[in-house]
Parts: sequence; structure tokens; C-alpha cells
Amino acid sequence: MKRLFFFLFLLLATAVNTAFAAEVTSPNGEVKVVFNLDNTTPTYMVSYRGKAVVKPSRLGYELANAENLLDGFKLAGQETGAFDETWKPVWGESSSIRNHYNELLVHLVQEKTDRHMDIRFRVYDEGMGLRYEFPQEGKLNYFTVKEERTEFAMTGDHTAWWIPGDYDTQEYEYTRSRLSEIRGLLQKAITDNLSQTSFSTTGVQTSLMLKTDDGLYLNLHEAALVDYPAMHLDLDDKSMTFRSWLTPDAQGMKGWLQTPCQSPWRTVMVTDDARKVLASNLILNLNEPCKLADTSWIHPTKYVGVWWEMISGKGDWAYTSQFPSVKLGLTDYAKAQPSGRHSANNANVRRYIDFAADNGFDQVLVEGWNIGWEDWAGNMKEKVFDFLTPYPDFDIKALNNYAHARGVKLMMHHETSSSVMNYEKYMDRAYQLMKDYGYDAVKSGYVGNIIPRGEHHYSQLEINHYLHAVKRAADYHIMVNAHEAVRPTGLCRTYPNLIGNESARGTEYQAFGGTRPGHTAILPFTRLQGGPMDYTPGIFEMDCANGSHCNSTICGQLALYVTMYSPLQMAADFPENYMKHADAFQFIKDVAVDWDKSVYLEAEPQEYITAARKAKGTDNWFVGSVAGMKGRTSAIALDFLDKGRKYEATIYMDGADADYKSRPQSYKIVKRTVTAKTKLKLRAAAGGGYAISIMAK
Ligand code: NOJ
Ligand code: CA
Repeated sequence: MKRLFFFLFLLLATAVNTAFAAEVTSPNGEVKVVFNLDNTTPTYMVSYRGKAVVKPSRLGYELANAENLLDGFKLAGQETGAFDETWKPVWGESSSIRNHYNELLVHLVQEKTDRHMDIRFRVYDEGMGLRYEFPQEGKLNYFTVKEERTEFAMTGDHTAWWIPGDYDTQEYEYTRSRLSEIRGLLQKAITDNLSQTSFSTTGVQTSLMLKTDDGLYLNLHEAALVDYPAMHLDLDDKSMTFRSWLTPDAQGMKGWLQTPCQSPWRTVMVTDDARKVLASNLILNLNEPCKLADTSWIHPTKYVGVWWEMISGKGDWAYTSQFPSVKLGLTDYAKAQPSGRHSANNANVRRYIDFAADNGFDQVLVEGWNIGWEDWAGNMKEKVFDFLTPYPDFDIKALNNYAHARGVKLMMHHETSSSVMNYEKYMDRAYQLMKDYGYDAVKSGYVGNIIPRGEHHYSQLEINHYLHAVKRAADYHIMVNAHEAVRPTGLCRTYPNLIGNESARGTEYQAFGGTRPGHTAILPFTRLQGGPMDYTPGIFEMDCANGSHCNSTICGQLALYVTMYSPLQMAADFPENYMKHADAFQFIKDVAVDWDKSVYLEAEPQEYITAARKAKGTDNWFVGSVAGMKGRTSAIALDFLDKGRKYEATIYMDGADADYKSRPQSYKIVKRTVTAKTKLKLRAAAGGGYAISIMAK
């Protein structure tokens, strides 16, 4: 035994002598990243307060038709640096954001092939990002990725909140399990979607939330996904190591790159306080500063829409049920018999415009305004919409004039049905039409399988398309809210006209059979790490025309305007349902959509989140709290308020008998004066919540 130890020591000693290692710590010294070039193979490890959180993990690439970039490296140099800057987002959870990190850049060369690969690490107090950089130097110019080989070696069988890895959708419910249980649970977690492609029995998506047995919260994600396929994680559940798994294209390739170029950032967040995950700006900070010279036309937006009618089965997008199929340019809608179920008709749209104007909303989304909806889904039809021609009962000019006269705007809808080729053909004309009629925001959508056929929602070509659409929209001063596009990775910092994305299971699923309570208490830990979500909250009538039941309470819905941060918020229900509960609707009218400051008061993934936010440019605060399956009694202190000042608080809480199934409409509203010394004890029902408006006196 003694001998074995001696031998091991010798081995170690030799390794240390020949290996190159460099480390970089966070500004507060708590997070440390160690880079190692051990036996010519690059690896890294991450520790937090002296304890490993990512064990030594390999870095590199497997290439198609070329020697891999996995080993054979030598150090060609290293650089270190520090950065500390405070920047002001165009909109956000707070009016200024500190970007403070230490940096290590390692220059590597694979001497045998004369190819260079650099690895850059940025270490923050709440975690780190690393990315590959390929300078135009030596022999590496064009190359095709077979697989990126970044590892994240976990230190144990952690608890994870995950959705199945999929090349085409994130519209799944979260499963909480041990890492070792993923394999056994994954198949059950794959629920139906119009486009879906899972790839492995241990594949999961980012942002992935984890908790260690000793109470550390970890989060794995990526930042600044540009000209590169989206990354999934595949778990080796023997070694508890995640491996990057990129989304392939129609040829099975995982990235066509040309130097100089770089990968997106691979991020690891670590903290002992769940609230810090929610408060983190790691992903935004790892993105480039704003690239738009003029942002004065970008504005947070509260909207209603002709939408829930179709989703919940009360109306249709399509104008007629007469046509077996539609050929744009040939099908004559003037001769068609209307079905009587077309929601986007002149009278109904005017009704929503009036409701928006009377209640202080900025915009009215109208879906189903344009021809083509009769056979829009499931046919992989290339020329599905032209985004230009309204249905006979939607007078685009008159309705926009009416809306503008009433001080609101219509919000455009471009469902592409995933015929991306077709959308790109029409895009400029479609944006110009918006300009002509005074629209400044578009909700786009990518339902169904992608055309070009064989591509996936998250392959490189489509990643490039989503960003192209945002950049082109900026040329027309149009804000974009894309549904079913790739999950965000903080690009809204660089292009703040990207004001929303869906890219997760939104409220619509409450009308497609329901979503379990707890979903909105995990989304801010996962999907919202990359950017805001158009979750479309505000359902007051939980029983849908199609028989589905929304698993929530009215106060649980109110809370979402605060807990699900977004500069774009919808009040999704029908005007008549809001009028039935006008006192509760008041909160939706009052709540802000842009903030000076945000404070997370309590949080635990999938169980509860309580947030307080100060409305931008005012002294008013709004609090929201959502609870998962167990419900929650929270004790909160209002010590974030200005000392010595009095405020009028309106507390909207679940009634004592509230229940997301049987009594979702039970609520109580209490008004009282509060100060920074006030402490409140409030109960949220399972799947419910509470909301408070706190107006300065
Ligand atoms: C799916 C979107 O998520 C939903 O909001 C939209 O109404 C439909 N697609 C139709 O475009
Ligand atoms: Ca969707």
C-alpha cells in the first residue's frame, strides 16, 4: 500500500512539473476557475468557497473531415484582466447593471496541425463563463463541427429541474429529480408537440437548474448564441458528467465555422442563495453592449389581444371552414362562406381596441388577421402565409385608424408555420406594411417543422434566421416577440428591440389540458435566465370553452406580472372576464412593466418566488408571490421601502378557501398604510399567489 502511494505521488509530481495551470478568481474571491493543460488536453474546474462545483472537465472539439481539436495542444501564451463597468439597459429589472469580472485568456496551439484555439474565462461573484475563440492564424480557416466536447463534471447526484433535450421545442413541464433518475423519467417527460426531436435518454436542455445536497444552487446555460447551433446537455450518469450536445443541421453537422470566430459562452452559476440566481445578470453581462444607435423607439408594452378566444376554443384563426386547402394567389376568399367563428373580425377587434383604450393598455394583438389559416399547421407547406393580405372582414386601414384615434396601437402577428424560407422572402414587405399602418411590434411564431426541410428550430441556420429577423426589424423600428424560436441567451442586451420570446411552455398550455402548479416558480430559474418571456398571464376564468381547466387562482395570475419579469406583458383573458372582477383587474391596470430596482425576497425552485420591484421613474413598488404545489405562507419585511415614508398598499390575496382546481376565483383585497417597518404574513394557496401595489403617499 505504501508503495502505491509513493508511486502515485511520483506520478503527480511529474504531472505537475510538465503541466501548465492557471487560475482566475471572482472579484470577491469566492469563485475560482482553474485551467489545466494536462498531457496536452485542455481542462477546467470550478470551485466555490474552496469546494469543487465542477470537477476537472475536458474542453475541445470533434471536427468533421479534419483532425479533432481535443488534444495535442501547447500553451502559446496567456493574458489576464479585470473589468468593472456599470451599464444602463434600455429596459430591465433594474435601471443599471454592474458588469464586474476577472478574466483569463489562454492561447493554445496544436503544433502538429498549426491550428490555434483560445479559451477565454470570465469569472464573476455568482459564477463563470467560458468560450472558445478561433483566431485567423495558422492553418485553421473553414471548419465543420461534428460535436463540441465541453464537459461539466458534477460533484454528485444533484437534484435537477429539467426538461427533455429536444432540437425543436422547449414547451415542456419541468421534472424535479436526481441526476441518476433522468434516464428513467425522460420518456414520460416528453409530451406531444407539433414539432419535436429528442435525441438521448439522458439529454436535457439549458438553462438547467441544480441543487447540491449541501445546499448550493447551480445553473448551467449559454450566453450570446450567435451563428452557432444551440447547446443541449447529455448526462453520463455513471460519472455525473454533462457533455455539450449541439443541435445538428439537415446534414447532421453541428456548426459551419470560419475564423476568426468564437463559440457562445458556456456558463456555470453557483451560489448558496436561490434568490441570487434570480437576481443574477451573468447572462446579460456576457453579451455585447447595445448595437443599436437609436433606441428611443423601443418601449415596454402592456397589451391585450384577440388571442385567448382561439387558444381556449371560443373562436378560430381561420375565416372559413369551406376550403380543404389554400393556395395563396388562387384561393378566392371573396367567394368563401365565413364560418362565423373568425375572431379577428372588425367588430370584435374594435371591442378590444375600446377595452384597451378604456383601461390604459398600449396595444392590441390580433391573430388570424391574414389569409392562410385554413390549412396552416401540420402540412409542411412552404407558401403558407404572405403576411400582407388581410381577411375580408379585417379592414386593416380602418382598424389601425380607429386604434390610433383611441391612443392605442395594433400589434402585428406573423405566424410563419416554420416556413422560414417563406418568411424571409416576405419579411421586408411584411415589415414595410407594418410601417405603413403604424404597427411597431410583431409577435412572430414558428409552429411545426422547419422549412428548409430537415433543419431544426435550434440548428445554426435557424439561430441565424431569428437574429436576422430581429436586426431587420430594427431597421424598420419594429420590436420583436418571437414564439417557438430558440430560448434566449441574453441577446436582448445587444438588440433591445427583442422585447420578448416564448420559448417555453406558456399560458396557452393551460388551455391545452393544463400545467401543474409550480411551473411559474421554476421558469424564472431556468427559461428567464436568458431573457424575458411572453408568458401571457392574467387568466381570470379558469374553465375554457374547450373543457380545459387552468391550474391557477386569480391572485396567482396577478402575481405573475411581477414574478415573471418582462417588458412586454399581456392581459390575456377576455374583456368580459375582467369586468366581472374589476377590483382584481385594477392590479393589472396599475402594475408597471419597466423597473428601477428589483429585490427577490424569497425563492426556492418550483416552490415559491416572491419579488418586489420599483416602477421606473416613480416611488411606487409592486410585489408578487407565486406558490407551487404546497402553497406557502410567507413572512416578508417591506424594508426595501424608503425609510420614514408612508405608502398606500393594496393587497390582493387568495381567499381562505382558494384552490386552483375548485375555487380559483376566491380572493380578498385589503388596503392599508405601510412603511419600511411593516412586516406582512400572507398565505398563497397551492398554485396561487398574492400581489401588492404599494403607492407612495
Ligand atoms: C403558438 C403560439 O405560442 C401562440 O401564442 C399562437 O397563438 C399560435 N402559435 C398561433 O400562431
Ligand atoms: Ca407556443
